[in-house]
Amino acid sequence: MLTFVSMTIKTIEHNFMSKLFSPLTIKNVTLKNRIVVSPMCQYSSVDGFANDWHLVHLGSRAVGGAGLIFTEATAVSPEGRISPDDLGIWKDEHIPGLKRITGFIHQNGSIAGIQLAHAGRKASTASPWKGAKQVDSVNGGWKTVAPSPIGFKPDDTPPVELDNAGIQKVIVDFKSAAQRALSAGFKVIEVHAAHGYLIHEFLSPLSNHRADNYGGSFANRTRLLREVIASVQSVWSKENPLFVRISASDWTDEGWTLNDSVALATVLKSLGVDLIDCSSGGNSATVRIPLGPGYQVPFAEAVRKSGILTGAVGLITSAEQAEAIVAEGKADAVFFAREILRNPYFPLQGAQQLGDEIEWAVQYVRAKPVK
Ligand SMILES: Cc1cc2nc3c(=O)[nH]c(=O)nc-3n(C[C@H](O)[C@H](O)[C@H](O)COP(=O)(O)O)c2cc1C
Repeated sequence: MLTFVSMTIKTIEHNFMSKLFSPLTIKNVTLKNRIVVSPMCQYSSVDGFANDWHLVHLGSRAVGGAGLIFTEATAVSPEGRISPDDLGIWKDEHIPGLKRITGFIHQNGSIAGIQLAHAGRKASTASPWKGAKQVDSVNGGWKTVAPSPIGFKPDDTPPVELDNAGIQKVIVDFKSAAQRALSAGFKVIEVHAAHGYLIHEFLSPLSNHRADNYGGSFANRTRLLREVIASVQSVWSKENPLFVRISASDWTDEGWTLNDSVALATVLKSLGVDLIDCSSGGNSATVRIPLGPGYQVPFAEAVRKSGILTGAVGLITSAEQAEAIVAEGKADAVFFAREILRNPYFPLQGAQQLGDEIEWAVQYVRAKPVK
């Protein structure tokens, strides 16, 4: 009898699966769990090329057990880089280095995603450890572009206002980048429409003062994003997911608000976007953001009510916290940035903490704690 009871308990234990470690299938792609490595700039490229750093950085997080791993903001054009050291995908020569990384990630049971980005008025900035200031053309920088000639900070050199031809070039650059992303083996694209970069600059009335059909009304301010999505979709596989990262709020009533994000979610869902990754801020140098554990989760929760999948991100640092977010229906996936930088094996350890049985890389199995 006792043996039977303990066998039953063992079976129950073995079958236990937390929400965090349950798979998530989107289109034809299945993430083995809902832990996502959030895009994180590495400022370690020369001329946009991926190198050993990117392979080890992203590859070790695949060994660590994350379900989906995003590259950093990857520039669709040289002028769309945040810094001269950003990763890029604006020419075919970039493909082989990226392909090596996606191959390694997929061999190790994770899914490779790429965040496609244009930094707009926040481009041409030195990497953090080189001072993080605007770089002028004498020192390897370039003229920045934006919806309106308004600098991010008062003493910034103002960006050049994009004309219609400039906007069309941006749309084509995203399309070419998506095509290359497919060739490089990525299975998920995330369009970066957050953090005060170009697409967010168009969305937000703080930075978009245009009087043409890309400014003014909600429909006009969201036009660039909608056109970028359509151009990406024209080349992206119908079987592969498409995510959009937004800043769900500018944290000021004069800017983009959560209500705008909820309205946008309905639009993006109708366009076939699969998931909205809900970040916030980045388009004002003066607002104060009330930081705290999971402070952006309510955005993911509110946007999810539009019937679209969401990702929660921001000061989420434990498996228990992430499990509660998914189990309580606040988001479908949890993006980790700094915690998974501190600990690439966070998913392996998180599974142990939640009582999930997950696969380890065979090379590491001898280190797996015995129950
Ligand atoms: C080193 C570093 C680089 C980042 N680069 C990007 C980026 O390329 N694209 C992006 O959307 N967010 C970027 N972020 C923001 C993170 O993806 C994430 O949204 C933010 O750090 C909050 O999550 P956390 O509290 O888990 O760190 C970066 C964050 C860090 C720490």
